[in-house]
Amino acid sequence: KLKLGVLISGRGSNLQALIDACAAPDFPAEIALVLSNKADAFGLERAAKAGIATAVVSHRDYPGDKPAFEAAMDATLRESGVDLVCLAGFMRLLSPWFVGQWHNALINIHPSLLPSFKGLDTHQRALDSGVRFHGCTVHYVRPEMDEGPIIAQAAVPVLPGDDAHRLADRVLESEHRLYPHAVRLIAEGRARVDGDLVRIEGTVPDLAAVV
Ligand code: GAR
Repeated sequence: KLKLGVLISGRGSNLQALIDACAAPDFPAEIALVLSNKADAFGLERAAKAGIATAVVSHRDYPGDKPAFEAAMDATLRESGVDLVCLAGFMRLLSPWFVGQWHNALINIHPSLLPSFKGLDTHQRALDSGVRFHGCTVHYVRPEMDEGPIIAQAAVPVLPGDDAHRLADRVLESEHRLYPHAVRLIAEGRARVDGDLVRIEGTVPDLAAVV
């Protein structure tokens, strides 16, 4: 099975979706390590409850020394035999060095239909722009923030009466379906990077079913 290293900073609901997916015997990946940059991240409790190894590498222990912070994370992931790093609400920007160390072995989930709404506060910005569909994206990470070959996306409608909170809840539900789907595609060798794109081999479920 493909060994995942899941990087978190907080709540860890996407981590939970991956934990739940990996619990199915036929799922082609397993979580080798959950790594948090915050000691009080609730996701660490989720991992412990599932019997998964955890580590904390706090950026605060490396003030002004991002290379040392990232080298510590990199070493921890290597020691755990991680094949694929999954960012799941990990809120530190990674340097080109770290991204290069995990080239095409590092993915992120972002709460928008990229390339729209990179960065933070995506739900309010989607509402303010008047789009009728919003959603989430899983992509391979490149040094530029929220850029990189798109593996999978799920769309959700923006509904009358939505505020950022309600829209975020609807998107989050779609994230919890999309992230395991994307990991499965990679673990099955069906999501190959070809230049700036990901070529998907075989059939994928109707995206309406993924949402
Ligand atoms: C998720 O909505 C994820 O897409 C987003 O943070 C949330 C984490 O929730 N990620 C980003 O904004 C990355 N810039 P979780 O901790 O419950 O998975």
